Amino acid sequence: MTAIRNGVPWYDTDGEVVNAHGVGVVAHDGRFYLFGEFKTDDRNVFAGFSCYSSTELAGWTFEGLALPPQVDGLLGPDRVGERPKVLRSPVTGEFVLYAHADDLAYADPHIIVATSASVTGPYVIVGPLMFEGRALRRWDMGTFEDDDGTAYLLTHEGDIFRLSDDRLTIDEQVAAAVAPGGESPAMFRSGGAYWLLVSNKTSWERNDNLVLSAPSPSGPWTPRGLLAPEGTLTHNSQCSFVLRLADGRHIYLGDRWSFPRQASAATQVWLPLNVDGGVAALPEYLEAWTIDREETFRPVRTRTDVGFRASREGEHVEVAFTGDGVEVVGRSAPDCSYGLIEVLRDAPRDDVPPGEVIVLSQIVDWYSLVPQRGTRWVSPPLPAGDYRIRISATGERPEWRKKDGTRFGPTGSLVDVETIVTR
Ligand code: DGJ
Repeated sequence: MTAIRNGVPWYDTDGEVVNAHGVGVVAHDGRFYLFGEFKTDDRNVFAGFSCYSSTELAGWTFEGLALPPQVDGLLGPDRVGERPKVLRSPVTGEFVLYAHADDLAYADPHIIVATSASVTGPYVIVGPLMFEGRALRRWDMGTFEDDDGTAYLLTHEGDIFRLSDDRLTIDEQVAAAVAPGGESPAMFRSGGAYWLLVSNKTSWERNDNLVLSAPSPSGPWTPRGLLAPEGTLTHNSQCSFVLRLADGRHIYLGDRWSFPRQASAATQVWLPLNVDGGVAALPEYLEAWTIDREETFRPVRTRTDVGFRASREGEHVEVAFTGDGVEVVGRSAPDCSYGLIEVLRDAPRDDVPPGEVIVLSQIVDWYSLVPQRGTRWVSPPLPAGDYRIRISATGERPEWRKKDGTRFGPTGSLVDVETIVTR
């Protein structure tokens, strides 16, 4: 079974980076369908909601843009589209997609509703989600479907709305402001209780996310502390969705944002949720795991200690390897930023001029507010052969700000490579 590899770019079955962020997942007809923000590497402008499918929550197949950029309207040009979530209506059989739509200043929030007869789309926007005769003006959102089929829309600050059976409107607001200051809401039910996960508001930066619980979606909601060990910033991630597996286990799906190079370098953190003793938690970070718990990792073939640290554009290290895959291990930290990884092979000897062929190149983010030693990149499968891997500093030092002007981003542009591994 293909492993879920946290904190590294994933490659789909076409060898392209899985580009899905702020995700939601739907199980349908024996497959998982992943919906996410299809990002770019420069601007925070809506570029579509992507759809991927898989049978094992890894090894994703790109199904296309479930909802592409629109020619006008709430997801038209120069708009923001975030956190797509899909539910299926029990009465119409339609698949219904919800997402946060906004202007570039996040000053025009709406929740859009779009429908499709097919789970992979194309989804057609039917309009803004209405509440009490007016468009619901909310930013971050999530969805939750209860065991009895009742579905809810969750929003920042902890507002919870019960959705109609056709999933196109709101029947009732069942809770208000149960998580003040919280965003990126996710909910699940386990152990006779309902659990709400929210992050604090730190823009694209990570923080220690919070847990609340209640006997019903309408409450009363009780704060239960932090989701992950304090100071790990939820293992350098922000909650997005909780997926319930058929065997009753719950999987935390989180984002490890990487502004501005979100398409290339923003990664996923997916972890099994522990819910016992009345506590929902992510006690430990797993670099790699599989949902059937079968360890399927091939043994390490070579491990080359490198000890490379550089921050100026173009400074690089090269390591030759033979095999069909390669991994880069290093330490992320606040003074780190983007690195360029290239896999090269020598051009045919009779080439004129002799040279090298770049087999693949990938921007990878070494930034994290909380330092974390681990695997920074895993190559997609390569044809067995002789290669060189080249890792270069880019010298970039991005920054971004919250509405109140708070600055975020790395304090340097270091790239740190400890080891190159082949299996
Ligand atoms: C935090 C939110 O959770 C994200 O969805 C996104 O809106 C960023 N803020 C933008 O800074």
